[in-house]
Amino acid sequence: MAAGCDLVLSNVLLPSGRVADISVFRGKVCHVGAARACPEIIDCRGMTVLPGAVDMHVHMRGRDQRHKEDWASGSMSALAGGVTVVVDQPNTVPPLVTPESFTRRVAEAREASWCHYAINAGFIPGCDLSALWRRGAMAFGEIFAAASSYAEGLTVAELGDVLSTVSSLGGLCTIHAEEPGAGPDTDLTSHHALRPPEGEAASVRRVRDLNDRGCRLHFCHMSCAESVSNAGNSTVEATPHHLFLSLEEFDPSDTRGKVNPPIRPEAVRRRLVSLWDRIDVLASDHAPHTLAEKRQPFDNAPSGVPGVETMVPLALTFCREKKIPLASLIEKTSQMPCEILGIPRAGFQVGDRADFGVYPQGDVTIDADMLHSRAAWTPFEGKRAAFPVTVIMGGEVVFSDGTFSPGHPVWFPGRGFIGEEPPRNNADTAQP
Ligand code: DOR
Ligand code: ZN
Repeated sequence: MAAGCDLVLSNVLLPSGRVADISVFRGKVCHVGAARACPEIIDCRGMTVLPGAVDMHVHMRGRDQRHKEDWASGSMSALAGGVTVVVDQPNTVPPLVTPESFTRRVAEAREASWCHYAINAGFIPGCDLSALWRRGAMAFGEIFAAASSYAEGLTVAELGDVLSTVSSLGGLCTIHAEEPGAGPDTDLTSHHALRPPEGEAASVRRVRDLNDRGCRLHFCHMSCAESVSNAGNSTVEATPHHLFLSLEEFDPSDTRGKVNPPIRPEAVRRRLVSLWDRIDVLASDHAPHTLAEKRQPFDNAPSGVPGVETMVPLALTFCREKKIPLASLIEKTSQMPCEILGIPRAGFQVGDRADFGVYPQGDVTIDADMLHSRAAWTPFEGKRAAFPVTVIMGGEVVFSDGTFSPGHPVWFPGRGFIGEEPPRNNADTAQP
């Protein structure tokens, strides 16, 4: 009897340099070599095929903040940028710190997300981390060592408690490390000076020193080389806005460049890029705010920039400019996040999740109008990037030439998950 096959990606240039046909059956790669007999074939000759990206740091918002983003708009934005798994952050309003709100969040995602998802849980003093872990929290955090939008910074004692409890659960803490100073926050230059690279690097060191129980740590959005160096054997993440944007590119009063940690001067950015090999994960810290919110006076304007859709496209162009190898792009956008989180990997081997982005040669100029986030703007306006023409998730085409088709998104719970998926409810972020 002939082996089953649902889809073939033909003439795929593998990272090894070999060209092969990838046959897919029931959501997984079933053969790499000559194509199996199959009703659906996508010819990838001349294209770049990448495993679907896992964006470990996405603020999907929803609920009272659905005017900025919700599961439907954020997940479409992810897919259109070649991201097939998003990891949602818990600084929602209200914060995701009770088992009930966690389970409700999973139900909201299941009703409305177009892409696969995992959900992190947050922390406030007295919250039951163990219950959140059993409900399926992927990781704890981002844990705020310093205040940011919609998040208070934890005290040293609180931080010590989280690290020790999560260590006993065998979980992962993802850390927002910063050490903000006091003073007027009037423009991007003062924002950078008030939340300086040295403070971030010192905060990384302090969190590691506090971690005497050896909790597994992942440092989010490192904005300078010293922070990366201070991370020891913890994993570290960097964002496209810290790697590809510099302070000098913005008018100092432009709140669109306001983000925590801040966008740094060009010299700092360059040193961060020079540590690319040591950076484990590229993640977007997709933090959608509307332009109306950003137009407030500088000190009131929220911090954060949208970026889930532009992350892989910008990085692929960076790679095509010979700044980084393609294998490292695949590693940091897909393999490493899967390994760190325990998500089944996507890729080119038999048994891998059949999630792929197919990218044409050549690039385009980024224009906010072509993006799908409800934020409706991008800090990368005018940059060159290569967007996928086709995105495959679980062996199904979910995005093609600008059109979305519903696939079968799944929830990836964390390792502590016990029990069944929550029942469907009338989640408030539900979309058609
Ligand atoms: O700039 C930021 N915005 N940094 C964060 O850590 C949070 C984020 C947000 O949620 O808007
Ligand atoms: Zn953060």
